Amino acid sequence: MDKNQINGLLRPKSVAVIGASTTPGKIGYSVVDNLIKGGYAGTIYPINPNATELLGLKVYPTITDVPGKIDSAIVTVPAKLLPAVTEECGKKGVKGLIVITSGFSEVGNKALEDEMVTIAKSYNMRILGPNIVGSLSNSDKFNGSFAPFLPFAGKSSLISQSGALLIALDAATYTRKVGFDKLISIGNMSDVDFADLVEWLDDDQDTTCISLYIEGLKKGRAFIEAAQKSKKPIIALKSGVSAHGAAAAASHTGSLAGAAKVYGSAFRQAGVIQAADLNDLFNRTQALSLQAPMKGENLLIVTNGGGVGVLATDAAERYGLPLQFAPQDVQDELKKHMPEFGSAKNPVDLTGMAGNEWYYDSVKFAISHKWTDGLIVLYCETAMTNPMEIAHSIKKAVADSKVVETPITVSFVGGEKSDAAMAYLVENGIPAFGAPDLAVNAMAALHEFYVLHAKKADFTFKSNSKARELSVEIIAKARAEGRDSLTEIEAKEVFSAYGLLVTNTSLAKSEDEAVALAKKVGFPVVMKIVSPEILHKSDAGGVKVNIKDEAAVRDAYKTILSNAKTYKAEANIHGIAIQEMAPWGTECILGSVNDPSFGPTVMFGLGGIFVEVLKDVTFRVAPVSEDQAEEMLGEIKGAPILKGVRGESPRDRKALAETIVKYSTMIMDLQDEIKETDANPVLVYEEGKGLKVVDARIILKAK
Ligand code: ACO
Repeated sequence: MDKNQINGLLRPKSVAVIGASTTPGKIGYSVVDNLIKGGYAGTIYPINPNATELLGLKVYPTITDVPGKIDSAIVTVPAKLLPAVTEECGKKGVKGLIVITSGFSEVGNKALEDEMVTIAKSYNMRILGPNIVGSLSNSDKFNGSFAPFLPFAGKSSLISQSGALLIALDAATYTRKVGFDKLISIGNMSDVDFADLVEWLDDDQDTTCISLYIEGLKKGRAFIEAAQKSKKPIIALKSGVSAHGAAAAASHTGSLAGAAKVYGSAFRQAGVIQAADLNDLFNRTQALSLQAPMKGENLLIVTNGGGVGVLATDAAERYGLPLQFAPQDVQDELKKHMPEFGSAKNPVDLTGMAGNEWYYDSVKFAISHKWTDGLIVLYCETAMTNPMEIAHSIKKAVADSKVVETPITVSFVGGEKSDAAMAYLVENGIPAFGAPDLAVNAMAALHEFYVLHAKKADFTFKSNSKARELSVEIIAKARAEGRDSLTEIEAKEVFSAYGLLVTNTSLAKSEDEAVALAKKVGFPVVMKIVSPEILHKSDAGGVKVNIKDEAAVRDAYKTILSNAKTYKAEANIHGIAIQEMAPWGTECILGSVNDPSFGPTVMFGLGGIFVEVLKDVTFRVAPVSEDQAEEMLGEIKGAPILKGVRGESPRDRKALAETIVKYSTMIMDLQDEIKETDANPVLVYEEGKGLKVVDARIILKAK
């Protein structure tokens, strides 16, 4: 990322508006008007060949006629003019273009968009957009957009893929009192994308939290790498999580890899916190931009009402922060600031009699105590208290404590007076919400930030070049035969090359050969059809298990061949695989997809009904470290089964984690060749006894 160019683009010292219209109501007019009304202190150069003056500013016929230097050019002329305009800006030495204009790839006109980007690149210019509202920055008083005003000032910055939503949220920042420094509309992402802006905002001294509305990432891997390096909290609302990539998947894994799961895993790996909806994005952003991370699990709740206290307690459990009683010394001290019938347990109930002083004393003590990792203060509006005075007490207690490392969130339940009191708290850096569960959710976001930040994934990758060479040869042979998948035997050779423990499998081309191989492997054996055209072997009657003697081998050979011919007469049959019959173990599934946004992604789950019915699987963008692999084993619902339930001994989780790591190396190495893979089932034995991959499937990328 060229920081200097993006600075010029989004924090310009001088700006041209190309297409500055003299007609009020047109976008080119609004942009100039907004720049002036926003209080922009840099120089504004309106450009229009048909005008001489606009809103008191001199208008230049072309950008070439402007006497001074221009950092950024906001473009509001029709799409077809963009190649010529970009060329002119390049010659003038402009650092970047904010292209508001629509009519590019979003309506299928990709060629025009590419042409514009190619010209910009040849001059080292960056392009934001096209098809955007523009870019706004409170700290620069720069409203380079057609959104009517700068947002309610604050410390978060939002990047939005939807322009309309950005305008709507701009207005909502005032009613919701959630402050933003920058609002950046990213549109078609023809050049500047989420990764560039996350990296840039991470260095921006006016931004403490990066907030994202994402519809789809074009370069998901670049994004998670940028997010992984970020020091600041990043919160994302991802829309469109329904049908993605899952259509027409040839493997089991492909059909399970919905956007929600893959995006969710990728975000967690990169330390990105997720928002469930727009309200959640606002609430969590408010807390993340104003408060420190919650570094432990000791949450203390102080309240004047039992009801809101219980609601908050329920929410705490729901959001993964179950309450514990505070130590006795904390309780003893808190007891001094409540009536006899109050409770110093957690939630700390000051009772409805609680006034300003009790709030002040208990908040100041609680936030200062080393046991407290996070403090939530609840207040129900009462006839005897004044919400604004309570808010003053809370604010003063926090300020007097001089504690900044322990986060606090607040909820006031009441009417207009409570709303005004909460607005006061937010203005003073204390997040405040109209319902207790929201204050808890906000605190949970501060805890999530700490937890995710501490265990971000490392995406550096070490190839297994020897295995890669061998695998590429096997794949080339299959491609030379016009195939788009490997046979089970070939797939197992690839798996083996990467150190995966597969069942011993050999190909028999005749009945006699089958008998000889079965004797060599040792009875009982499994026999399976080998045909590139029959991927779902069991459906074709192409699998026989537990074959105990020579006669049974001969029988099975004939039956499998005849079933396969009935299933698909034209199938090219390579022969029949004779395979050792592995002892039964806990059935697991491993697999991979080459995700359109994130690239190679590993899936793990328990096999059988767990995967078929419950879809109890988890994903990680590759490469996966051993720590990450262990996390995967722990986060599926069936995790206790691997740990050993009802007297069963624990499974070999170490072997499983090592296998996931090797699997991820394989799919990273072969990402240009492989589309999807399955290892299903993987039979996992008792601790120390390893595992066996019984069936293997590799679908190739179309070339
Ligand atoms: N250099 C400078 N100015 C020029 C040039 C040039 N080469 N050529 C023409 N102009 C002037 C025109 O004379 C006109 O000024 P005038 O009104 O004073 O005569 C001005 O530039 C605009 O040109 P028009 O041809 O009038 O274009 P119009 O304003 O109708 O539309 C626009 C341009 C707004 C960029 C349109 O093409 C467009 O893309 N609209 C959609 C934009 C949008 O919504 N983007 C955000 C999407 S996100 C969301 O949904 C919110």
